Amino acid sequence: MEKLLVRGGNKLVGEVKISGAKNAAVAILPATLIAGEPCTIENLPDISDVKILIEMLEELGAKVVVHDANTITVDPREANSFHAPHGLVKKFRASYYLMGAFLSRFKKAKVALPGGCKIGPRPIDQHLKGFEALGAQVNVDSGEVELNSAKICGGHVYMDIVSVGATINTMLAAACCTNLTVIENVAKEPEVVDVANFLSALGVSVRGAGTDIIRIEGKEKLGGCVHSVIPDRIEAGTYMVAAAATRGDVTITDVIPKHLDPITAKLRESGATVEEGDDFVRVRCNGNVIKGTDIKTFPYPGYPTDLQQPMMSYLTCIEGTATVTENIFENRFQHVDELIRMGADIYVEGRMAVVKGVETLKGAEVKATDLRAGSALIIAGMMAEGKTKISGVEHVKRGYENIDQKLNSLGADIKFIKE
Ligand code: UD1
Repeated sequence: MEKLLVRGGNKLVGEVKISGAKNAAVAILPATLIAGEPCTIENLPDISDVKILIEMLEELGAKVVVHDANTITVDPREANSFHAPHGLVKKFRASYYLMGAFLSRFKKAKVALPGGCKIGPRPIDQHLKGFEALGAQVNVDSGEVELNSAKICGGHVYMDIVSVGATINTMLAAACCTNLTVIENVAKEPEVVDVANFLSALGVSVRGAGTDIIRIEGKEKLGGCVHSVIPDRIEAGTYMVAAAATRGDVTITDVIPKHLDPITAKLRESGATVEEGDDFVRVRCNGNVIKGTDIKTFPYPGYPTDLQQPMMSYLTCIEGTATVTENIFENRFQHVDELIRMGADIYVEGRMAVVKGVETLKGAEVKATDLRAGSALIIAGMMAEGKTKISGVEHVKRGYENIDQKLNSLGADIKFIKE
């Protein structure tokens, strides 16, 4: 079994370059199936989720040319399958984007229900509501979603819940439809805007991405494009928190600082120093007194749920008390027991965790149950005295490009080991 061995106690100091956004990449790659010509995608993160998606595209009949670790060209013209069985999709949850892409291209889809991170039930009812509003018939049977439509005819849909996945999936389904589609109460995350920009580059008219209402007028035959994925604000936020947690001084480059506003605000509130440049942020904590702050997760531009877990590790060693409230996912506190094993003082009541600052954490054997629990435990391991061994590292590889190399270049002592 592969594990991560972290020797704690080192301050992170230096400069780190951020990769392309996982959550944009895992939507844009399925979306290439809608294109009428080849698409070159640049700044893809070199992570296992992207590798799995490339294999999936090839299995579905698309031709993929890998130029380097971060750039590929997908020629979707010979893709001929609208069926993604369980064996194909079980490896990760965002394979639900194949539903929207297949529906757009083939007017039908058969996709097994997704797997992925175990952070609560994560239903897809709003995705299905979007497809139905566009004219698709939805049938869920034996763990597979079947979608059929003689013609996707556009429509008007109000999302009951602000959902990144449902917003993007409905956009994908509407992309080949010439009638107007209006989607209300949509997610405003930068990744939604990036997918909208990709679709625009193919020839789709998408207005309002980044606001509460998106209007789409598609085309039956779309073109190809060259698209560069936006920087990963969650990866950037992880390094920001890690810099503060180890009381270091790190410049995080190739980012869009505006996307990092909630993290910047919360780190500043806790006493860390954050400077912003055009495309970098610098987080410093040399000698600063770090105190409690209250974190509440919300859809963008609120504080992101994906950085709730890393932030909690940072808050374990503060002066005073902090609270962390998880409003997006029901079961995203699985890292708490592991942090307690490392000496943290945390108790959970419903959706809120109360974190009482302790002097120091102690290394332990811990388990990452999901991707961001993994990054939280790596941060805790770097803060702790002694050695921390983290299992469940496959989750970390899903979402962080070369995390060991990037952290070690900043002075950390972390390596993947086989046991
Ligand atoms: C995406 C991100 C994930 C992030 C999350 C919230 C990807 C691949 N993943 O996940 O990293 O943590 O946004 O920012 O982009 N919900 C429903 N019905 C639905 C859809 C969602 O009830 O049909 C609920 C979910 O259970 C959750 C909330 O809505 O409580 C938000 O989920 P959503 O924004 O859809 O998350 P994902 O797109 O799965």
